[in-house]
Amino acid sequence: VAKATVPFFGRVQAGVETPQQRFASFVALNLRSGVGSEGVARLLRLWTSDISLLMAGRPAMGDAAPELADLPHRLTVTVGLGHAVFVAIAKPELYPLSIKDLPGYSIDALESKWSGGDFVLQICADDQFAISHAQNELIKGAKPFADVHWIQQGFVQHRPNGETPRNLMGQLDGTDNPQPNSKDFSSVVWNDGKDFEWFANGTVLAFRRIRMQLETWEKLSPGAQETVIGRNRTNGAPLTGTIEKDLPDFAAKKDGELVIAPDAHIRRASTGRNIFRRVFNYSDGVLSDGQADVGLLFAAYQAEVETFLEIQARLAESDALNRWTVPIGSGLFVILPGVQEGGWLGQSLFN
Ligand code: HEM
Repeated sequence: VAKATVPFFGRVQAGVETPQQRFASFVALNLRSGVGSEGVARLLRLWTSDISLLMAGRPAMGDAAPELADLPHRLTVTVGLGHAVFVAIAKPELYPLSIKDLPGYSIDALESKWSGGDFVLQICADDQFAISHAQNELIKGAKPFADVHWIQQGFVQHRPNGETPRNLMGQLDGTDNPQPNSKDFSSVVWNDGKDFEWFANGTVLAFRRIRMQLETWEKLSPGAQETVIGRNRTNGAPLTGTIEKDLPDFAAKKDGELVIAPDAHIRRASTGRNIFRRVFNYSDGVLSDGQADVGLLFAAYQAEVETFLEIQARLAESDALNRWTVPIGSGLFVILPGVQEGGWLGQSLFN
């Protein structure tokens, strides 16, 4: 297992459809001033080479500690670009999204230290050590071109047999998610290149750092917690069903009342167009009020940003969960298409 690798080269980048690893580090970097098309191309070529080596369990070029690279634990590094990169390379017309950044929502209390970024590296593995080594090498390589803006680290509950993991609020999180390697997954996540040819097999990452207010959440009864989500806490079944995979019946009523409340999270989040959530928990020391700083690194992948925007706007407007969660970080990134051997990440942007 320690030597297990995920292929780097392919139609799409690794780290999205890849079965979720236990740990993640999201690294946002900002372009240094004066770096233009040539610098960005050099950085993307360098990252291509280093990421392909590190994911294969081999040292990066000029690796400061080559003996640390041999146990990748299914390491993946997924590279995304923010709007500013398209401006820096003088190709703003190739930016494939309708907005430069996610809008602000009434529920947000965004902190700039957790928000934005010109590049993102999503680094995942089943071992934090492997992540840390890769992160150090990739940040070091980027130095002439970009500086780190933020790093956010997360983890997933490890459950045997591929069961849906719980988040730190106690819920099974990931039930109604497209299944990797299904047709549904491809249409939800991978862009078809119809609007921007170069973007075929890319995707969009909407990233949110969402703090959980566990001290008040934990005061709710199990039944009240279930009403907030619309699912059973024990096995994740919708309140209208008996097992986790039962489909929710949003029309069902009992004693004249909707069984799944009007503002239940799953009702508000259901629009008929899904997104793929690949979320990690975080637990990061203590807040000034003495409470533990915990929450979700919410990473959603979708072929078009509009799908995410529609769901997020509905949740901002009404979602019972909002009383116990606060978005404090936000970012929007264009995840580059995959690379074939001999090519490099983002190459088609420079032709
Ligand atoms: C701390 C914040 C959040 C928590 C704790 C949370 C928790 C959950 C839970 C427990 C479920 C039900 C199980 C499942 O299908 O995975 C769920 C479903 C879902 N959530 Fe969240 N969520 C959070 C934030 C968000 C955000 C920000 C979005 C999108 C903007 C979102 C979109 C969805 C969607 C699309 C579903 C599936 C709904 C369905 O069709 O049944 N969630 N979430």
